[in-house]
Amino acid sequence: MTRMGFKQRLLICFLVVSSMLGLYTLCVSLEIQVPWNVMALAPFPGTRRVEEPRSNSSQVTMSLPHSTHVLKLSTESDHQHSSSGVITTLKAQPTHGALPRQEDYTTSSRSPSPQLSARSPQVTTRRPQVTTRRPQVTTRRPQVTTRRPQLTVKDPPFIGDSYAREDAPPQTECADGVRSRVSQTEFGERFLVNIPVLQWAKHATQEEYERLQQYPGTHGWKGLDFQTVLASLSALNTEANRQMLDDWARRANGSSCIRCAVVGNGGILNGSNRGREIDQHDYVFRTNGAITKGFEEDVGTRTSHYTFSTNTMRNSMASYGGQGYHGPPQSEETRYVFLPDHDRDYLLLKAAAMNTTVERGPEKNRKASVYFGKNVSVHNIKMYHPDFVRYIRNRFLRSHTLTTKYKDIYRPSTGAVMLLAAMHTCDKVSAYGFMTPDYSKYSDHYFNRQFQPVGFYINHDLRMEMNLWQQLHKAGLIQLYMRP
Ligand SMILES: *[C@@H]1O[C@H](CO)[C@@H](O)[C@H](O)[C@H]1NC(C)=O
Ligand SMILES: *[C@@H]1O[C@H](CO)[C@@H](O)[C@H](O)[C@H]1NC(C)=O
Ligand SMILES: *[C@@H]1O[C@H](CO)[C@@H](O)[C@H](O)[C@H]1NC(C)=O
Ligand SMILES: *[C@@H]1O[C@H](CO)[C@@H](O)[C@H](O)[C@H]1NC(C)=O
Repeated sequence: MTRMGFKQRLLICFLVVSSMLGLYTLCVSLEIQVPWNVMALAPFPGTRRVEEPRSNSSQVTMSLPHSTHVLKLSTESDHQHSSSGVITTLKAQPTHGALPRQEDYTTSSRSPSPQLSARSPQVTTRRPQVTTRRPQVTTRRPQVTTRRPQLTVKDPPFIGDSYAREDAPPQTECADGVRSRVSQTEFGERFLVNIPVLQWAKHATQEEYERLQQYPGTHGWKGLDFQTVLASLSALNTEANRQMLDDWARRANGSSCIRCAVVGNGGILNGSNRGREIDQHDYVFRTNGAITKGFEEDVGTRTSHYTFSTNTMRNSMASYGGQGYHGPPQSEETRYVFLPDHDRDYLLLKAAAMNTTVERGPEKNRKASVYFGKNVSVHNIKMYHPDFVRYIRNRFLRSHTLTTKYKDIYRPSTGAVMLLAAMHTCDKVSAYGFMTPDYSKYSDHYFNRQFQPVGFYINHDLRMEMNLWQQLHKAGLIQLYMRP
């Protein structure tokens, strides 16, 4: 009796264990599938874009008659591509989710992980079958070795998925911060712990100039003359210019994890009552038209880091003056983090570092203190590294737009750069006021006097950013504020 029972139990045990093993194997292969989907499929017009065609173009066309939207565009857009210009060309050629050439845009040959590069050969063979990929999952492994010779698929040169390294020691030993957890998530493969987030005097070399000159706009130094780069970056030669959270040692007070609140300007914050919670973080990041006066209960009062480009800041001053925005926030703890887009940013940076006037360009003869207050000095300014912005575009926000003729004006939004910068410098990141799937319920900005729908423009991919925030939240890498 007992012996039979034992045998039966042994059999059941065996069955349970083997089925768990099978389940585990299934899970593993599914999990491996995830980063691949996210990295190469989502960004490019494969499955997702086909199922959910971009309605950007229709929205932009819809919003054409409203001058407010034109203002909004110029706030976030590149000044060289004036709002009306972008809108007009966009209207002339809507992006109806058509499948552009995809050949050159598959996984980079410089993929950070062996898994990814091992897989790239298959990409070449599967391309026409994008939507039918999933069934082939199980047969993948044997193919890897036989197809290796085709490992030649490369990104087009403008992508530039290789970056400088910054080997600074971490500021904390936080056990469950972003850096220690990311490798266990679907983002592990594309997250570079050593990506330089900021640029400063060290980077102003002829060699770097030649490398970065390949990439236009915010992604490199193309169109900038070496003298301008050299003169501006050379001024950034203090500890404060090298580190995002330069005063952590002074603030730490025994804490082993750095907690940052990153505050976007989304209408979801209207009535949120999050102000106190935001202010309780170690650092508070804000961007562009970040008005706090009159909105303290919802958005808080502090700003430790203000991210902007000269263009977005000036446009915010022009567009949101009526709503109370008269320039970047000023306080003793505030650092100004320039997102360089043109030489005008390098020129204003230099004026700010030296507390003088801008020597040429659209801000010619203006005092830096007009924007950043009388305390502005080399100790409270920083500038994002073009490698960092290009890395974000390539690995987190590789939009379908990069396969269109708008590839040169496409870039991550200022808010996206800010949030990802916090993820690369803080241990814990809470994001507030970023776009959520129920965005149509909220006004464009929390400070709008009247409801205004969110505007979509060709130089950013806000839907892709929204999806990224959802994925990062689900992966436990950020805590995204959402309404219940
Ligand atoms: C530092 O930490 C101690 C103990 O946790 C606390 O009582 C004190 O208020 C903190 N000081 C500051 C400046 O935060
Ligand atoms: C400017 O610096 C002075 C001296 O350090 C300080 O007392 C003051 O609070 C600062 N003002 C602002 C707006 O940062
Ligand atoms: C910066 O320049 C302004 C005048 O342009 C001056 O009032 C202010 O004291 C200067 N700030 C510092 C920190 O030197
Ligand atoms: C902000 O919230 C209040 C209260 O819910 C609402 O009356 C107002 O219309 C909202 N503002 C905007 C710009 O949506």
